[in-house]
Amino acid sequence: MRGSRRRVSVSLAVAAVSVALVGPVARTSVSAKTAQIKPLDVIYVPTPHNIVAKMLTMAQVGPSDVVYDLGSGDGRIVIAAVKEFGARRAVGYELDPVRLKEANENARAAKIIDKVQFVSGDLFEADLSEATVITTYLLPVLNERLVPKFRKLKAGTRIVTHNYDLTDDWKPVQREVLDGHSVYFFRVPGR
Ligand SMILES: C[S@@+](CC[C@H](N)C(=O)[O-])C[C@H]1O[C@@H](n2cnc3c(N)ncnc32)[C@H](O)[C@@H]1O
Repeated sequence: MRGSRRRVSVSLAVAAVSVALVGPVARTSVSAKTAQIKPLDVIYVPTPHNIVAKMLTMAQVGPSDVVYDLGSGDGRIVIAAVKEFGARRAVGYELDPVRLKEANENARAAKIIDKVQFVSGDLFEADLSEATVITTYLLPVLNERLVPKFRKLKAGTRIVTHNYDLTDDWKPVQREVLDGHSVYFFRVPGR
């Protein structure tokens, strides 16, 4: 598993370097009124739609679920969870105001705005207590930082990650590879 975590995909690796080199990219593209509250930990690289479907299928998202996407970009995972998988509700945490605007527009266009919420906030501060399913497409170091928070969630909470697993001593229940993308499925164990 550690080997797979080292195989950081070109897209997010480039994203990480971009953040390191040019800082919080989105900050330069918005007005002071909508400026984000802290620098991005990783820039925006969308998950392809077929990988979104794979992630939500592996998590068996259905009508009783409340899905949280941490770093929700244009809202595609949140929107697909409700529109295509029938989730009861879905929430995205996102810092970039440009992405937040896009996500709200996309949800409005999909006619599901009443079932989704895009929170302008740091994903590391997210209240995940109502989540039954959590999704991430973040760098390995960021997934690892979330692990202590994930370990405290309700037993049975499902976590699906795109391309990177969580940490060495938390093995996924399932891993699938589609078009070169890895998807990992975890369940929070009972304590
Ligand atoms: C790799 S993209 C993934 C977007 C989306 N989840 C998807 O899979 O299509 C990561 C997203 O996280 C956002 N982000 C970065 N750091 C964040 C933070 N600390 N809190 C909330 N969002 C953050 C970025 O703006 C970007 O939209």
